[in-house]
Amino acid sequence: MTANIVTLVSHPLVQHKLSLMREKECSTKGFRELLNEIGMLLCYEVTRDLAVEMVDIDTPVAAMKAPKLSGKKLTLAPILRAGAGFLDGMLALLPSARVAHIGLYRDPTTLQAVEYFFKAPQDLSDRMVILLDPMLATGNSACAAVALLKSRGARDIRFVCLLAAPEGIARFHTACPDIPIWTAAVDERLNDHGYIVPGLGDAGDRMFGTK
Ligand code: URA
Repeated sequence: MTANIVTLVSHPLVQHKLSLMREKECSTKGFRELLNEIGMLLCYEVTRDLAVEMVDIDTPVAAMKAPKLSGKKLTLAPILRAGAGFLDGMLALLPSARVAHIGLYRDPTTLQAVEYFFKAPQDLSDRMVILLDPMLATGNSACAAVALLKSRGARDIRFVCLLAAPEGIARFHTACPDIPIWTAAVDERLNDHGYIVPGLGDAGDRMFGTK
């Protein structure tokens, strides 16, 4: 996997659903459902190059060689809270994936990531890990999450977000040049509070109706 790559997922379904989510009138229920649906569509994109092998199978009509997934097993790693919004959609396509939960909150003053929970498979060295967080803002949480995953041996990590700020991409690329990013949009900038502009507000609050 080549370093410092950002894949912009410009599929019309993704873009349409993202626009619905951005609107401030979007309900909690609608926001959650859309994030779940986009999770499924982004999962399709991030797994596009998974290895397959030809195996012998029998259809009701004839024997044939058919492609099945081979190679590394998968682990999905949502950063709590908002990353959990991608999980159901992705697990619908990858039902055997393991899940590594990463609890990080953003200190409102320093904007630094503070760890409060980390539960992952003991050894991630033989797995592909797909890190999930809808918002790549400062990049602090994503970088902290990568450090945790690497401490468990993860070597093959991909990062999926919904929205990215240029500042977050730059920070992430500097700290984690080996990890490619998939995102549905790159917005203009961060504001003084570390929010993405125009963005969609606080993804966790909008998902869980906590504001
Ligand atoms: N986290 C969010 O939920 N929204 C932002 O705009 C930035 C970080």
